[in-house]
Amino acid sequence: MTAQPFLYVVVCAAGIAGETHKLITAAQEQGWGVGVIATPQGLGFLDAEAIEAQTGYPIRSAWRSPGEPRPLPPADAIAVAPATFNTVNKWAAGIADTLALGILCEAYGMEIPTVVLPYVNTAMAAHPAYGRSLDQLRKMGVLFGSYEPHRPKAGGGADRFRWEEALELLDGKIAGSSGR
Ligand SMILES: Cc1cc2nc3c(=O)[nH]c(=O)nc-3n(C[C@H](O)[C@H](O)[C@H](O)COP(=O)(O)O)c2cc1C
Repeated sequence: MTAQPFLYVVVCAAGIAGETHKLITAAQEQGWGVGVIATPQGLGFLDAEAIEAQTGYPIRSAWRSPGEPRPLPPADAIAVAPATFNTVNKWAAGIADTLALGILCEAYGMEIPTVVLPYVNTAMAAHPAYGRSLDQLRKMGVLFGSYEPHRPKAGGGADRFRWEEALELLDGKIAGSSGR
């Protein structure tokens, strides 16, 4: 691949979303162009001005109007980080009622390499639907980070959430590139 590869970072409304700049920095250091797509709830967890200054692109959250130019280049890969219980389950079920979910649902058919770093607590993860969703997405070729759910109402697990794992999972997945 000669042109700069482009990564979509899909940000959901999880407690750790305010640290998304860490993944953007790591991706840019590896040569990716980066655009952020936030769920409508996730938008409230981000410093939009800082993220837009860092990426050089507007954060996308809502669908554009017909005829409006596409604000982002097409994606070579997608990292859903952090991913919520809600978005994981809706994505696996094929629900596309946010722009983020629409992009994720379409990514499968477009064969865009997609990796996910869920950030959920053990109480949410215990719901039977969650396990079924992970199985479904794995069958679709989606790769998952290794973060183990944290105990609810105990401060989360930000110290062991490895943002760079998204890039490690993508390593070698992009045609014509190595290490990106
Ligand atoms: C402060 C706060 C922190 C939250 N943290 C998480 C979280 O870490 N993981 C999660 O799955 N949901 C979390 N939620 C719940 C989600 O925000 C909620 O399910 C929301 O509908 C998810 O929307 P989205 O999947 O479209 O981003 C949190 C909610 C709030 C208000």
